[in-house]
Amino acid sequence: ELPVFTTAADMRAWVRKQKKSGRKVALVPTMGYLHDGHLSLVKAALERADVVVASIYVNPTQFAAHEDFDVYPRNPDDDRAKLKAAGAHAVFEPESLYVAVPGAGEGSNVVGRETQHPDSHETYVTVERLQKPLCGGSRPHFFRGVCTVVTKLFHICEPDVAVFGRKDYQQWRVISRMVRDLDFAVEVVGLPICREQDGLAMSSRNARLSEEARQKALAISRGLKWAEAGVADGSLGAPEAVKEHVRGLIEEAGGKVDYVELLNADNLGPIADLASQPALLAVAAHFAAKDRG
Ligand code: PAJ
Repeated sequence: ELPVFTTAADMRAWVRKQKKSGRKVALVPTMGYLHDGHLSLVKAALERADVVVASIYVNPTQFAAHEDFDVYPRNPDDDRAKLKAAGAHAVFEPESLYVAVPGAGEGSNVVGRETQHPDSHETYVTVERLQKPLCGGSRPHFFRGVCTVVTKLFHICEPDVAVFGRKDYQQWRVISRMVRDLDFAVEVVGLPICREQDGLAMSSRNARLSEEARQKALAISRGLKWAEAGVADGSLGAPEAVKEHVRGLIEEAGGKVDYVELLNADNLGPIADLASQPALLAVAAHFAAKDRG
């Protein structure tokens, strides 16, 4: 049986026992509704540690009030079965990671989304500059919530290594920076994006796309592939022209672009040209979801 822990104390006790026996512990933090992209992280974690803990927790502090917390897809039974098959050794599945205030009314502990109660949670971790570009533009609350919950998960699970996907490239850079700046004793690893056969990046939220929207969304990976080919054969133009072209492909397909950016891949700072540094082409776009018509 795959052990499932729902309290921080039980989870921590299990991890400490593993470590006492000399085992190296890896953590794979997730919000569940697992797909092969998540499972590739579990596989990679197994290569880097003796035991792998996966956490499943839809973290309220990284969702703004208008975002999709309530409709975020959930399937814990299926997730546990997949984790077991992938070789994970334990699951951390807390009900809540934030202080609940009895009698304070529903949602008093759901910081970031609802009114805060004075006795509820009020400590956050922010990575000041790195959290601002890309997803930080349209989701200013987002990385504060991610860093805070990942800090909590690190303190509870005490992993030697933590594994993240580069589908959420900025998240990986932000967490790496947090770990460096605040001296967490954990090695942070970022792994390649897993894609569907047709190029769409695997994502729990893909479940919310209609078949039509899903087809249209392929414009994103087409744009990235076009740029990649351009780098390979040296035909890629100036950053502004590259961004314009990719934006055009997505808009032609009916997508609403949040951002198309070319940035320094290490520090997410601006780049003047593509010759001298590792560059990141980052795209976020909305395609109509099922329930929004
Ligand atoms: P979630 O979106 O569930 O993703 C969990 C991990 O899986 C992240 O590190 C993410 O980058 C990785 N991942 C998702 N899709 C992937 C794909 N197609 N290929 C490779 N890796 C992929 O990211 C979060 O949850 C949360 O913000 C979390 C870090 C758990 C904090 O709440």
